[in-house]
Amino acid sequence: MPLPKISAVGTFVPDHVLTNADLEKMVDTSDEWILTRTGISERHIAEPNEATSDLAARAAQSALERAGVAASEVDAIIVCTVTPDMFFPATACLVQHKIGATKAWGFDLSAACAGFIYGITTAANLVMAGTNKRVLVIGADTMSRIIDYTDRATCVLFGDGAGAFLIEPSTEDGLGFIGSHNEIDGSGGGSLYMPAGGSKIPSSVETVQKRMHYVHQDGQAVFKFAVRKTQEACLTVLDKFNVKPEQVKLLVPHQANQRIILAAAERLGLSRERVVINIGRFGNTTAATIPLATREALDQGKIEKGDIVLFAAVGAGFTVGASLWRWA
Ligand code: ACO
Repeated sequence: MPLPKISAVGTFVPDHVLTNADLEKMVDTSDEWILTRTGISERHIAEPNEATSDLAARAAQSALERAGVAASEVDAIIVCTVTPDMFFPATACLVQHKIGATKAWGFDLSAACAGFIYGITTAANLVMAGTNKRVLVIGADTMSRIIDYTDRATCVLFGDGAGAFLIEPSTEDGLGFIGSHNEIDGSGGGSLYMPAGGSKIPSSVETVQKRMHYVHQDGQAVFKFAVRKTQEACLTVLDKFNVKPEQVKLLVPHQANQRIILAAAERLGLSRERVVINIGRFGNTTAATIPLATREALDQGKIEKGDIVLFAAVGAGFTVGASLWRWA
């Protein structure tokens, strides 16, 4: 059975930066409140003509360039997103066409902030099954399109961005995918959601007037669940694959709130140096946080061949995922 490895990591964020100072002019908030409660200083925001497929295609192209692989050699594209360009066609189809991945099939995966973990789990299984050789997993979200910039409790949290992993068979023994653990707890659905625009409450003048096409959340419920479940999912995957927390070189967590990350890391007994935190410059980019954080860790030389890297995320749904890799 071929062992999958992450052979390249590409990212893309839009140029425009929205700072806490900019937000101070839009809603009743302060740089100090945002920084101390979330760890966020600024986030990138897409231009009106940039959609999720544009961000996703740029991240995918960057990953392919780094791997020296042509788009025509990609077998499958999984786009993890909650902000697709449209309900249909799938954003994966738009990306396939934009990058010229002429031989690829693909689909969108909706698991919110845990989407990227679900995506790499799926890709790893496609490679292990021998079904596909080269799978592009892209986490891309244009959260600014579904954020209410009059709601100070949510608008300070999110940003736009994309990241991609190219996953293919490892050529070296023991290096690559170790295993994943994923869960859903649908009882948390009402804690974080976009009320209208789907089949339950279709778009109407009334839904627009009632601001129902934006992210609605119970911040504290999400916070508590995220801290508890990030820790639990990490411990479960470590236990399942016989890895001790002290063997983990680096935890690359979803970036929702610096306080969530630090609380979960502390519970796992991981020191600050063993956890990647880059939420300060990007905010919560939903499915893109993990590849953005991984790219940063690689650029800073924090991941070396043979290191055990643990990815973990909790998202709307609730969705939960943790994934272990021995870096190839
Ligand atoms: N600026 C100033 N004051 C604010 C702001 C703001 N931007 N937002 C809220 N407040 C106020 C509230 O109105 C409240 O005021 P009150 O006491 O007068 O009523 C006060 O600050 C405290 O509000 P809390 O909600 O208790 O603040 P908390 O410390 O819980 O932080 C936050 C709120 C940052 C939303 C936190 O709960 C959180 O991060 N939750 C997780 C949400 C999340 O990450 N969702 C994203 C997707 S899911 C995921 O990725 C896991």
